[in-house]
Amino acid sequence: MTHAGGHTERVRQRTHEGFLRHKGFRWAQIASGLCVVAVGVYFVTAAQLREPPSGGSWLGYLLGTASAGLIVWLACLGIRKRAVSDGHYSLKAWVSAHVYLGLSLIVLATLHTGFQFGWNVHTLAYTLMMLVIASGGFGIWAYSVLPHRLSANRGEVTRKQMLETIASLDAQLQEAAQPLDRSGAAIIRHSIEDTEIGGGFWQRLTGAYDNCANRQAMIRARALPRPKTERDVEALAKVEGLMQQKADALALARRQMRITALLEAWLFVHIPATFALLAALIAHIVSVFAYW
Ligand code: HEM
Ligand code: HEM
Repeated sequence: MTHAGGHTERVRQRTHEGFLRHKGFRWAQIASGLCVVAVGVYFVTAAQLREPPSGGSWLGYLLGTASAGLIVWLACLGIRKRAVSDGHYSLKAWVSAHVYLGLSLIVLATLHTGFQFGWNVHTLAYTLMMLVIASGGFGIWAYSVLPHRLSANRGEVTRKQMLETIASLDAQLQEAAQPLDRSGAAIIRHSIEDTEIGGGFWQRLTGAYDNCANRQAMIRARALPRPKTERDVEALAKVEGLMQQKADALALARRQMRITALLEAWLFVHIPATFALLAALIAHIVSVFAYW
């Protein structure tokens, strides 16, 4: 979790500095310029050829090579990220260029295809590219809104305090369960010993905690026969109250974990789809030359 926490800090800092606005949208301008030129040349060539230039025309080759070069360069961001020592600024420039040049592929690669799509490896490469771009778009959304949601959810409470609250409620439960009979004590032990705060990545992402031990313990406690003595009635009411407080504390911590998981989830599409794209691209290029 320290990794996720550090990542979030880093993300927040980067969003604050604004890689989207880097140097007055320099990369947005360069990327749009590229697209405008490509569209212009495409339509002029289409008029001259009296048909849309396909991937096999001179313009198709130019756009295809440019797109493939860009894709390889974009894919190198992972390496670049890990090689960064203290160049925070240059990384910001890289991410800015990455986002806008990545988006420009929607135009460049589409023009390259000459709008010819089918059930083949060429269109597979194209689809994977669009998947990478779409997940990147989701990443931008995540980086821009989720850090705010994180701080809004937790208010002034730190992660450490959330965990301490849950631990302290467990200690109080232990104490309050003393007067209960065996079946009551077993229920409380279930809540104390078997409650998982986070769980696996998928569970944190979906926030599905139906089988949460504390929740089940609450249901079982409610189903217990009402005790006979006043003292036992009070003891049961007390543990039920404590379990409710624990449920609230768990919900807060889990919402926090869910947002942190969302901050990384899109990379689980973005990165593997990048590798698949590179493979499909190689197949595309090899197959076009093989059938030449
Ligand atoms: C060095 C880079 C590339 C070269 C040399 C290249 C070459 C070609 C050629 C020669 C064609 C025409 C094939 C035909 O008419 O049957 C073509 C079509 C196509 N290319 Fe590329 N390409 C490159 C990069 C890309 C990239 C980056 C993508 C997308 C990610 C892509 C997707 C497509 C698609 C979807 C078609 C249309 C296929 C069809 O006609 O059914 N290509 N490419
Ligand atoms: C075909 C085009 C693209 C490829 C091949 C690609 C590939 C990659 C790779 C390999 C990484 C490094 C991930 C890591 O190691 O943590 C990355 C990061 C990233 N990509 Fe892309 N990407 C593409 C397009 C886009 C687009 C269009 C966007 C935004 C709309 C985008 C947004 C991002 C962001 C925000 C990061 C994270 C940067 C960071 O954590 O500092 N990508 N991309």
